[in-house]
Amino acid sequence: EKGNYRHYMQKEIFEQPTVVAQTLSSYIRPLEQQVALPQMDFDLADVKRITIVACGTSFYAGLVAKYWFEQFARVPVDIDVASEFRYRDPVLEAGGLALFISQSGETADTLAALRHAKAEGQKIAVVVNVPTSSMAREADLLLPTHAGPEIGVASTKAFTCQLAVLAAFAANLAVKKGRMTRAEEQEVVQHLTEAPAALNAALAHDDDIAAMAHLIAPARDVLYLGRGPDFPLALEGALKLKEISYIHAEGYASGEMKHGPIALIDEAVPVIVIAPSGPLFEKTVSNMHEVMARGGKVVLISDADGIAEAGEGCMATIEMPKVHPLIAPLVYAVPVQLLAYHVACAKGTDVDQPRNLAKSVTVE
Ligand code: F6R
Repeated sequence: EKGNYRHYMQKEIFEQPTVVAQTLSSYIRPLEQQVALPQMDFDLADVKRITIVACGTSFYAGLVAKYWFEQFARVPVDIDVASEFRYRDPVLEAGGLALFISQSGETADTLAALRHAKAEGQKIAVVVNVPTSSMAREADLLLPTHAGPEIGVASTKAFTCQLAVLAAFAANLAVKKGRMTRAEEQEVVQHLTEAPAALNAALAHDDDIAAMAHLIAPARDVLYLGRGPDFPLALEGALKLKEISYIHAEGYASGEMKHGPIALIDEAVPVIVIAPSGPLFEKTVSNMHEVMARGGKVVLISDADGIAEAGEGCMATIEMPKVHPLIAPLVYAVPVQLLAYHVACAKGTDVDQPRNLAKSVTVE
């Protein structure tokens, strides 16, 4: 089943170009250059607010999607982890769409949150990888990912497929809301179509990342920094590292560094900076320099332009292909997954079955 791979997680990381393409093929009409969603019995144009609810890695996909829904469709988005949402008595007004994201479609807190939102009169959309799951059955709008079975406990390919669906969903909502022109929609389709090749280009750096794992493996703490739609990737990178390598890691918005976490920085704390070149790059680089000035060891994940501009003085750099900002969160997921994977292998932990974790959390 694992073929030439050592672990399911590794196999699933490498499947991403294929399964993201597979997933996108149900949400894109290539000839018309349009995004398309399955049939639904309500009008997306009427949606006034979106409430996103999920757990873990699926929650981080939701955090990325919040940027897209607000940027493209100008629809306000609330987002919560399911265990908080279900007990905080959220305000759910008429015209609201509640969106649940889950690989398994069975996570107990997310399912309970879905039922609560439904009882409160929200339209229910779900992004799930298991089409026969409870969440899929209870949805008004089912948006499947086609990642195939995910066996490694740490979620990888489900995450990038969730992002692909959510990007198409946000674009479609923007079209329905009259916020996106035909030409802009065609551009979105173009960028999404480029994602599988960009994922392949990212995977080509597997050996470089494996070779630097020994720089991270001895650390007790690791920080991940990112900005804008790449901030959730910092959270995801930290989660992946802690769950499979048992190294304590935290993800922070780059701009939050000076509000506390910078106190942790010394030579023993590697800082992974996720920063594609672009409008926010300068800001992140200045946060990176604050880290370096305190002896922090930086691993910069960026494209050739970003590395040329700011790679000097870094402990290591990981070069990503230059991609449109829309697909950057998908592409930059690859190096954070691979880094966690190779660090865990260097430490000899059980990558596919990390201690204390279960694949599907069906108890709260
Ligand atoms: C992290 C991980 C978990 C899941 C979370 C939600 O690698 O796998 O954080 O993302 O338990 O699971 P689903 O998506 O099945 O609801």
